[in-house]
Amino acid sequence: MELKGKEVLQATKEQIWSLLMDPVTLAKITPGISRLELVEEDVYDAIAEIKIGPVKGTFGGKLRLKDKDQPNSFSLIVDQKSKIGNVNAKVDIALDTASAYESTISFDGKANMSGVLASKGARVMSGVASSLTKQFFAALRNEIASTEFEDKRSNIETDPNIKESSNKSTMTHDIELIINGETHSITVESRSVLANVIREQLRLTGTHIGCDTSSCGACTVLIDGKAIKSCTMLAVQAEGLAITTVEGLSENGMMHPIQEGFKEEHGLQCGFCTPGMMMTSIDLLHRNSNPNESEIREALEGNFCRCTGYHNIVRAVQYAAEKM
Ligand code: FES
Ligand code: FES
Repeated sequence: MELKGKEVLQATKEQIWSLLMDPVTLAKITPGISRLELVEEDVYDAIAEIKIGPVKGTFGGKLRLKDKDQPNSFSLIVDQKSKIGNVNAKVDIALDTASAYESTISFDGKANMSGVLASKGARVMSGVASSLTKQFFAALRNEIASTEFEDKRSNIETDPNIKESSNKSTMTHDIELIINGETHSITVESRSVLANVIREQLRLTGTHIGCDTSSCGACTVLIDGKAIKSCTMLAVQAEGLAITTVEGLSENGMMHPIQEGFKEEHGLQCGFCTPGMMMTSIDLLHRNSNPNESEIREALEGNFCRCTGYHNIVRAVQYAAEKM
């Protein structure tokens, strides 16, 4: 199973490094950890309780930090055993300066599982991994917010493109977003979420915001052809990528087959969820030109419609599959 991602944190690389290398903080922010003890340099004995659906496992084993290049990178080696299976993983972690007050933390690695864990399937396990990762970064963000760092601005590389406002918590960036083939040069705050920028700054209001928990899918757009919930991405992260919103689907006044499908098969009622449904469906149809009903329902599980039973939505996607 691949473990890959990137997060933006409001701290310098040195500050993040100091938190990650502190055993007390690490124990506090790592989900499920009941014991984390430094047994030799860069080697921890760890016990963690992880729940996978109805199955609960107590994991015990070692966590090792390797190839440390302070404050830029290190590798995390996980070797954990439990009754429900073992986990071995190696994840490379890299810190980069994003702006005067922000850094990115990227992780890239692989995990191998055995036993019941392996039989749960890659999809379930990657869901568990993504939820644990979310919890970890949420806790790390809280820790950053509550820590009084000695020097808020130590070793900061200042990017000339970054403007500081008089209010230090508001940093702005001049960026170019390519949406539906058109380049928009705009100024956004570091914290601006892509969904809000698309709707409020660029007034492309077909992209909706239906929740604040990244669960409804109403904000889904295509980014480099992949369906992405635009509420889970910062606008600055989307710079230079090809974004398609529902407004970009029709060509020369002709509806896209998926739009036609929703119209012909009555796939929408209030329509709030429809743009997100369509973007997710297009991603599916690019990967699978003839999906069956269960594949369509599985692809759309991250898109909630509050007013239909999905029957007509499935038919709409099947209609588009025939036309595309
Ligand atoms: S607004 Fe993005 S998932 Fe709900
Ligand atoms: S059509 Fe109304 S929420 Fe889906």
